[in-house]
Amino acid sequence: MYDVLNVREDFPVLKNVIYLDNAATTQTPVQAVSAMLDYFYKYAANHGRGAHRLARETTNHFEDAREIVAAFLNMDVAKTIFTKNATESINTVSRGFPWKKGDHVIVTLVEHHSNLLPWMRLKEMGVELSVVKPDICGVVNPEDIRSSIKDTTRLIAVNHVSNVFGSIQDIGKIVGIARQNGVKVLVDGSQSAGNMALDIKSIDPDFFVCPGHKGLLGPQGTGLLYIKEPDIIEPVFLGGGMVSAVTTDSFKMEPSPAKFEAGTPNIPGVIGLGRAVEYVADIGVKSIEKHERSLAKDTARRLGELDGVEVYGPKDRAGVVSFNVTGMNAHDVAMILDQTRKICVRSGYHCAMPGIDHLGVKGTVRASFALYNTEEEVDTLIRTVSDITSLVS
Ligand SMILES: Cc1ncc(COP(=O)(O)O)c(C=O)c1O
Repeated sequence: MYDVLNVREDFPVLKNVIYLDNAATTQTPVQAVSAMLDYFYKYAANHGRGAHRLARETTNHFEDAREIVAAFLNMDVAKTIFTKNATESINTVSRGFPWKKGDHVIVTLVEHHSNLLPWMRLKEMGVELSVVKPDICGVVNPEDIRSSIKDTTRLIAVNHVSNVFGSIQDIGKIVGIARQNGVKVLVDGSQSAGNMALDIKSIDPDFFVCPGHKGLLGPQGTGLLYIKEPDIIEPVFLGGGMVSAVTTDSFKMEPSPAKFEAGTPNIPGVIGLGRAVEYVADIGVKSIEKHERSLAKDTARRLGELDGVEVYGPKDRAGVVSFNVTGMNAHDVAMILDQTRKICVRSGYHCAMPGIDHLGVKGTVRASFALYNTEEEVDTLIRTVSDITSLVS
């Protein structure tokens, strides 16, 4: 049973601050930290490379984590690849896809830079990019994506939830449009994995990416990449752990996922991620989604009622609320929130400059919620923002 006060006991740092920067990275529960300590204290070794007992134990824990994460998101284990973050996952696809000169890619204006720059760089290879505009609340109309498709379109790369607006894209419809047109689709689930109930096999994207360190509550330095047809992507990194036979002039790659995991991975991080995902699954992602979205909805409504505060994004939002205090710089607002009431929020462009430009502002303050945030924390945020507005009125 989900009890937010019990949950908070598992995140000791929350005794000291009001942490509302969860869209950047979340706190990690003590259970996952203990799993990482166990690795260091009891069996640390390299993964997949040794016959000795510690190597075997490490490999078992690492592969258990893969099974936990794959089951949680309903992905085939063999298609579940560990990376260091969502950025690496997206770059693995953009660098490994078999492009031809003249190919065309579609993104949206509300992508994180991680889901924009890797596609922009393909210009060097003669790949053309179209950028679809969302409405002013950051919601993309799937029909605008459909009408941007040309004969040369090979891939659509789109966020599931915007890290600026909290808008939720109609991913089912966008994947359907891609399928009808024979176009591949990459879904950036950085703000939805662990925050919303996801079934990757039923959404059926060609590629799904997310970090381990946001809604999945894992440590930094962990990320996921799902590739529906792993053979179409060439690995970016070559080296140990991803080959089955090597001579001085040829090599034979292992199948996925090993093929995409050259070199020593973040073993403790992945083991911690596995335990963190178990933690999320035990609480229940549907309850987490309901909780986060209800806090965000209340926050947006109550901020919107304050004179001198502008709130961005749609009414029906995920757990992200961007706003500004009229006449004040977003960083100054964030600084005051921290210094007066230890409220940690993000401010600025949120690595999504084109999306912020679309709003016609120079940054926003962003409060983003996780399973451990409370209504009392929202009260404190609203009271403090209200105090701040009186500084400029
Ligand atoms: C929508 C979105 N995509 C991609 C990323 C990049 O994630 P990472 O820093 O783990 O690579 C983020 C991080 O904030 C994000 O919000």
